[in-house]
Amino acid sequence: MLKITTVVACKNWAKGQVAFVPTMGALHAGHVSLINLAKKTADKVIVSIFVNPEQFGPNEDFVSYPRQLEQDLLLLEQVGVDAVFIPDNNEIYPLKNKYKITPNCLADDLCGKFRPGHFSGVSTVVLKLLNCIKPDFLVLGAKDYQQVVIVKNLIRDFLLDCKVVIAPIAREDNGLAMSSRNAYLDIRDRDNARHLYKALQSIKSLITQGENVNKACEKYKNYLIKYGYRLDYLLVRNADDLSNNLSDNLVILVAAWLGSVRLIDNLVCRR
Ligand code: PAJ
Repeated sequence: MLKITTVVACKNWAKGQVAFVPTMGALHAGHVSLINLAKKTADKVIVSIFVNPEQFGPNEDFVSYPRQLEQDLLLLEQVGVDAVFIPDNNEIYPLKNKYKITPNCLADDLCGKFRPGHFSGVSTVVLKLLNCIKPDFLVLGAKDYQQVVIVKNLIRDFLLDCKVVIAPIAREDNGLAMSSRNAYLDIRDRDNARHLYKALQSIKSLITQGENVNKACEKYKNYLIKYGYRLDYLLVRNADDLSNNLSDNLVILVAAWLGSVRLIDNLVCRR
């Protein structure tokens, strides 16, 4: 596995057909599922590890975000990626953020409402990484549903030649969507965390039986609160563009706190 640490080396990396998996490290089985999909999609796979300061709010966990580079590199070697890009902050932000992407849609909605500037930070870094790597395929996880829709729009609007490939959500045995931040959950919250996916499944089953979407969500808001969740949102949107145009293709989206950990999850639902 080639370890690339500079932008110039990344741009000069001899390629062929490439699939790119951007990450912030602290890799887990969810990331590995993206890498395996990338390997099936293209001849070569490159993973980036960069904890992007610009997508964390001032009161968020940038400083304490789990960093375990040696462990991550071992894992990437085992999984069999061709290259890993570990850029330096000064190279990714040479002008200290004189320019940034402002998504004009969805940036202040859903998670954006609770994390101001987050999707501007994500869009900016993804564009920069795509400029370094110029991959044929960008592999993203369905866990970050809003991120997927925003990055797809970014690629379209900036006329980039890159196809987005989506990997399904990888879950723990109890249904909890895997996340680098799950490590922060204490034992009691770890147990209660299974109720998030249960709630999504129950809402889906109510909706497919014809129940009103708002009523279905209200019922399970109370269910989650009973288990100690503090909800940012639990709602249903159009699965294609996240609008409020509730057609047949829906997605149930949730963001909720258990203790000091913010969990997000979603489930696509047809009716
Ligand atoms: P990070 O949270 O490290 O996630 C990297 C990729 O892994 C994202 O596409 C995310 O959706 C995917 N992923 C994480 N957990 C997953 C799970 N349980 N199942 C499926 N996919 C999962 O998302 C980011 O980093 C950053 O915002 C980034 C895109 C790298 C930009 O900084």
